[in-house]
Amino acid sequence: MTKVNHFIDLDTVGADTLKGILEHAHAMKKEKYNPEQIFSGLSLAMVFDKRSTRTRMSFEIAMKQLGGHTIVMNMEEMQLGGSESVESTGNVLSRFVDGIMLRMSDQAMMQDLAKYTSIPVINGMTDDSHPCQIMADLLTIEEKLGNVKGKKIAWFGDSNNVSNTFVQASKLFDFELVLALPEEIHGRAPKDANITADAAAAAHGADVLVTDTWVSMGQEGKAIEKFWPYQVSADLMAKAKDSAIFMHCLPIHEWEEVSEEVAKSPASVIFDEAENRLHAQKAILAWCLENSGVTVG
Ligand code: CP
Ligand code: NVA
Repeated sequence: MTKVNHFIDLDTVGADTLKGILEHAHAMKKEKYNPEQIFSGLSLAMVFDKRSTRTRMSFEIAMKQLGGHTIVMNMEEMQLGGSESVESTGNVLSRFVDGIMLRMSDQAMMQDLAKYTSIPVINGMTDDSHPCQIMADLLTIEEKLGNVKGKKIAWFGDSNNVSNTFVQASKLFDFELVLALPEEIHGRAPKDANITADAAAAAHGADVLVTDTWVSMGQEGKAIEKFWPYQVSADLMAKAKDSAIFMHCLPIHEWEEVSEEVAKSPASVIFDEAENRLHAQKAILAWCLENSGVTVG
């Protein structure tokens, strides 16, 4: 049986493959207006059980610009949300489409689904991880600062799906990552993460300051007082390198995790980062769809 290229976790894809995908993403960005129709005749199912702007737009446009099709489904409208099993759903979707992108809370369920599909499963974000976002972030860092290897990236605020994936990426791409988090949530960060409660120390000499909302989807009503010392402010940015950039996967909860001044400053690359979801997605899809006859380069 042919090996299926799932994109569920950076760790399981591996450093060399990820670096190849990033190289392809840079190339795809250059071909923005006249791309080869490498997804001609292919279809992607996109399943959501949470809100999305960037993930939905970028996957849909990526498929369509390269000649493919998409079908979007809300998970609660699928039989999977009722009586149909993950096994049956995986088998059936494999007969209709060439790949499935899902945004769902439960990463174990996504991994389970991938056992039953003969087509790639792509993680469009779970409660544990957000690998497509981090690929776009790495693409952005490479564009703005050159090689990510050896850079100091400082994360501020909550420990969540996005920071978990940054931790994985730091090992695979060999950069220094420090997570500045309130003491009481240190136990929630990955065991192998470099954690501090000292936001100023984390920002000192950093190349990249990055944050995300303190209240991820599904956590509405959560207390945020403990996070205020971790807001990315102009004071914090001043402790980083002069060339430092500010990143955020978006959406921002205005103006909690970052001040308006920083988010709208010249150091902020948030909209390039958002655009790079599209270019990263094309390269991720191309790798995943290799076994469906997509040839690259
Ligand atoms: N960053 C991100 O995943 O955005 P959406 O929630 O809009 O997809
Ligand atoms: N941590 C956020 C990321 C949104 C793109 C969430 O899970 O809601």
